[in-house]
Amino acid sequence: MASEFIVECIDCGQQTPFSAQAQVCPCCGSSWREARYDYKKISNTLLPLLATRPFDLWRYHELLPVRSPNFDLSMGEGGTPLIRATNLGMMLGCSNIYIKDERQGPTSSFKDRQAAVSIATLKEAGISEFVVASTGNVAISYSAYAARASIKLWAFLTSLVPAAKMREVAIYGTQVIKVTGSYDQAKLVSAQFAKQKGIPMDTGARSISCIEAMKTISFEIAEQLAGILGPARPSSNGRSEPLRAPDWYIQAVSGAMGPIGVLKGFQELKQMGWIDHIPKMASIQTEGCAPMVHAWKQNKEIAAPVQSPHTLIATLATGDPGRTYTVLRQKMLDASGGTFESVTDEEAYRAMHFVAKMEGLSIEPAAAVAFAGLVKLVRAGVIKPSETVVVNCTGHTMPVEHSILGEGWSRDIVLSPASAGMEEVVEEGLLAALSKVAIDRFPRIAIVDDNPDVRRLIRRILQSQGDYTLFEATNGREAVELAHKEHPNLMILDLMMPEMDGFSVLEKIQSSPDTADIPVIVVTAKELTPAEKEQLHGHVQKLMQKGDFMNDDLSDEVRALLG
Ligand SMILES: Cc1ncc(COP(=O)(O)O)c(C=O)c1O
Ligand SMILES: [Zn+2]
Repeated sequence: MASEFIVECIDCGQQTPFSAQAQVCPCCGSSWREARYDYKKISNTLLPLLATRPFDLWRYHELLPVRSPNFDLSMGEGGTPLIRATNLGMMLGCSNIYIKDERQGPTSSFKDRQAAVSIATLKEAGISEFVVASTGNVAISYSAYAARASIKLWAFLTSLVPAAKMREVAIYGTQVIKVTGSYDQAKLVSAQFAKQKGIPMDTGARSISCIEAMKTISFEIAEQLAGILGPARPSSNGRSEPLRAPDWYIQAVSGAMGPIGVLKGFQELKQMGWIDHIPKMASIQTEGCAPMVHAWKQNKEIAAPVQSPHTLIATLATGDPGRTYTVLRQKMLDASGGTFESVTDEEAYRAMHFVAKMEGLSIEPAAAVAFAGLVKLVRAGVIKPSETVVVNCTGHTMPVEHSILGEGWSRDIVLSPASAGMEEVVEEGLLAALSKVAIDRFPRIAIVDDNPDVRRLIRRILQSQGDYTLFEATNGREAVELAHKEHPNLMILDLMMPEMDGFSVLEKIQSSPDTADIPVIVVTAKELTPAEKEQLHGHVQKLMQKGDFMNDDLSDEVRALLG
């Protein structure tokens, strides 16, 4: 049970007990309030209890606005894995990138936390109907939990929401109201409806339950990072906090409930002495709907609304963030700072594809916006290679796979109907069909690098983009031998290797008529001196810096060189 829990108005300071029905301050009418707990008491008792509890969001129920967790409503919300993004980290030159895999929530989005906690508080308050406006995921999550709680849900969805998502909302028994208009308009209509009917509604970042639910993302990350990396190093006062915060937390934003809740979570952990710092927040929007990014870059406290968002990513189409931006900005400034950044839809779709190909995760475009933001911030030097980064990840590629893959992503086998007694003919047809699936001779590429992880990464990049016969050499001497023996069509060469370095390999293969014509792409982590660049000039077809190329960059070069 949430002990000593009170709601405080951020405008007049009035403190009141929590009520799921009361959505504004009784004193000044402000809808901006925050939950406060007896952190001292909780910090003394909760940590040892955590070790005895299942890894779901209810393990933190002392810090949630529910009287007691209702396990009849639960579907295993929270407790999602924190996955190391090894390949992505290598491509970006950052070794500590982690993905908070919210796809593994009951309806595959981080909004399951919001719905689970909100619906639990509504159930405790005896509420039987609820209204929500959504760009898809919120309505899906609420619908699932409302079904379990026997609460009737009215979901106002902007007509931009993909049809597959709308149907998912309906299938849970929710009444879908399709609003032909923007998300901001859908919110206004739903608020009017809720008021008219006297039904409570989801108030997004102004809802105590929602913000409190999002905090659990931070609690889990801090526990998981401490498990993976160990607790933070003792600070100057000799104290070592038991949990560990990342340097950055990255999330795509629309209404900004996620970042506000996550920041509050880290603030509470800091206040309880469980972490030594609050992470920097990177909130990412799409270029066609980036009111918060514009305001942040102009150092403004208030975001000017974007009247007509232009983005394919409807999930993130809040054109008017209202005071949410101001609240988030202040929280960031009070903590460790951070930034707002925007990316194009195209960058997001590319990110979606490389996260699938390089990390094995199928994510939705809105989540890919956060990954595209990560790439942009690393390249701009805002995120440093040594920093620990956590990226929030949600959804599934399914609704948009057709637009990423385009044509030609499959090879077809068409078999004529088998005829009895004609096995040889059938087998012949099969062989002919299979010969089209994979041609006999692929371009041959030698990968030369002493680091097995780099060889594995390059192998993965090439194999996920085309058909190649790949050879590997682990040092310069092997590379020269390989060049003579296999005569590859292309060599991808590291420079810094023991025994014989890349410069000597180049010299050797290019001085032998047998191997002089092999094109070479140098992929190196070395900061080259002007003299070294000069030495390579005219001898290599392309020079690429490790940690500064994405999968497509390398495969584009390879394809261009192989013709
Ligand atoms: C995948 C995903 N990312 C980000 C958001 C933005 O959420 P918010 O800005 O409210 O935290 C949403 C909203 O539904 C979402 O589904
Ligand atoms: Zn007030």
